Amino acid sequence: MEHHMNAEIRPALDPKEFRTALGSFTTGVTVITARAGDGTAVGLTANSFNSVSLDPPMVLWSLSKKAQSLPAFTTTRHWAVHVLAADQESLSDRFARRGEDKFAGLALESGHEGVPLLKGCSARFQCKTSFQYEGGDHIIFVGEVVAFDRCEHPPLAFHAGRYAIATQKDPSLPKPRSARLAGSFSDDFLGYLLGRAHFQFYQSIRENARAQGLSDPQWFVLATVTVKDGVSAQEVDEAIAYSLGEPSGPILDSLVASGWLERSTRAAAGAVTFRLTEDGRDRALHLLAAAKSLEADTLGRIGYADGAVLKTLLQKFIHSTNPGLPDLWGDA
Ligand SMILES: Cc1cc2nc3c(=O)[nH]c(=O)nc-3n(C[C@H](O)[C@H](O)[C@H](O)COP(=O)(O)O)c2cc1C
Repeated sequence: MEHHMNAEIRPALDPKEFRTALGSFTTGVTVITARAGDGTAVGLTANSFNSVSLDPPMVLWSLSKKAQSLPAFTTTRHWAVHVLAADQESLSDRFARRGEDKFAGLALESGHEGVPLLKGCSARFQCKTSFQYEGGDHIIFVGEVVAFDRCEHPPLAFHAGRYAIATQKDPSLPKPRSARLAGSFSDDFLGYLLGRAHFQFYQSIRENARAQGLSDPQWFVLATVTVKDGVSAQEVDEAIAYSLGEPSGPILDSLVASGWLERSTRAAAGAVTFRLTEDGRDRALHLLAAAKSLEADTLGRIGYADGAVLKTLLQKFIHSTNPGLPDLWGDA
């Protein structure tokens, strides 16, 4: 006897678990736009987008039957899929909220049949509906791609219900040196990787500092005073004692002696504070600019997307290993 899938025999399926399981399929994030019959622009965030066919070029996505834009998409045949770039999270949030004018204040372009196009995306596909299918509580749209463009902006990803940034595995990277060492206290050890990365990155910053007659602790303290002028030794200690490893008082004094800093007093605190001399400021800003440009060069070599991934992971790492140290100057 043939079994029909009905409510009685369908295995119990926990909707929350089902969503969670679906979330393990990592996707990009798109915004799909169209123009409703009355000419108003409509759009929504969708990660149900997928490729279907290369020849003819076709893509698909599904739209909730509860979406306010449903009548627009079932009426018009023209729509555009925008693959969002990693820095377009706010566009995704904006187009996932219903109601308000989602397009307010956005710089738009006009596509095929007047479909509103967003800028700065990783890729855009302008499409024309070929088929429309029932898909449970969604409608599935299959469209033929009539035009597309793309740029090198790395894409925004969506994984387990959260925005993500993807880094590509690089098979050309050297493996740990020997099978015996692999995974042991060696090239794979996090401490080694962090230490070596710091050492290599810091090398040329240190050379510049040395050329200006600065030791490492002097450079740390100077960089701190450059970021926040008019600080006391106690404030410097509170902010960077963890990397300095010694009291900042004598270091501040030595920077006064060598003409980088001068003493001042802050009326409210009554404490002795330190600020850059005019010449000191000039030279310190040059050093900081060189450090920033080294950062830009390094990020340029590893790529914007991996730079963003690296910074995110280092922030997570710092947060998870923080023994209760202060935020560097908080919001000041
Ligand atoms: C990452 C993400 C992916 C989404 N994917 C879809 C989707 O594929 N289909 C859909 O109908 N809604 C999807 N949504 C929800 C819609 O964006 C949201 O319900 C939107 O408010 C619908 O707009 P509308 O009601 O103005 O049409 C998604 C939301 C997010 C944040």
